[in-house]
Amino acid sequence: MMATSSKSSSIILGVTGSIAAFKAAQLASDLKKEGREVVVVLTKSAQKFVGEATFEALTHQPVLVDLFDFRKTHKPEHIDVALHASLIVVAPATANVIGKIASGIADDLLTNIVMAAASPVLICPAMNDRMWKNPIVQNNVKTLGKLGYHFCGPDEGYLADGYEGVGRLAEVDVIHEAIKKLIP
Ligand SMILES: Cc1cc2nc3c(=O)[nH]c(=O)nc-3n(C[C@H](O)[C@H](O)[C@H](O)COP(=O)(O)O)c2cc1C
Repeated sequence: MMATSSKSSSIILGVTGSIAAFKAAQLASDLKKEGREVVVVLTKSAQKFVGEATFEALTHQPVLVDLFDFRKTHKPEHIDVALHASLIVVAPATANVIGKIASGIADDLLTNIVMAAASPVLICPAMNDRMWKNPIVQNNVKTLGKLGYHFCGPDEGYLADGYEGVGRLAEVDVIHEAIKKLIP
């Protein structure tokens, strides 16, 4: 069982529309147990796979989904959220979101937060092996690596869509270790 400690860091956990999105719930739970503040941002596609209630219950924080839902504070949320974070983790990261980040596209809350990031960004790809091998995806990963974005995974093995290959989300424990290396 994981020991509870008190860590003051705030982690943005961006969850995107991958079949592996359910594993982000375990990651959120493990980080919270460790005493971290975890704020989950779901893309619209992620909401087809996992629900806000799961993450709100696990993190004890509101889940953020809508770029334009800032009327309560009258302040665009993405800048504040980005500046407050010690680390942004995108897990699982779709081919789509990797492509958007690499291309400087900010058309939803998560990609706006990543673009405004003042912290390291850790990207944990998860996709079908053919998507992962696509030269455009590989080029995007290389571009982001050169720009200082951190990557964890993907692994090789059984893919939830029934195929075998490289593209499986790194194990939650491995992602957790990568997070601890970036923000001990
Ligand atoms: C059942 C299903 C599973 C999917 N799994 C993945 C996946 O693991 N990785 C991926 O890159 N895209 C996957 N997709 C496609 C993405 O959901 C799609 O590209 C979407 O536009 C991603 O949006 P987002 O990056 O804003 O979350 C899947 C789609 C479906 C219908």
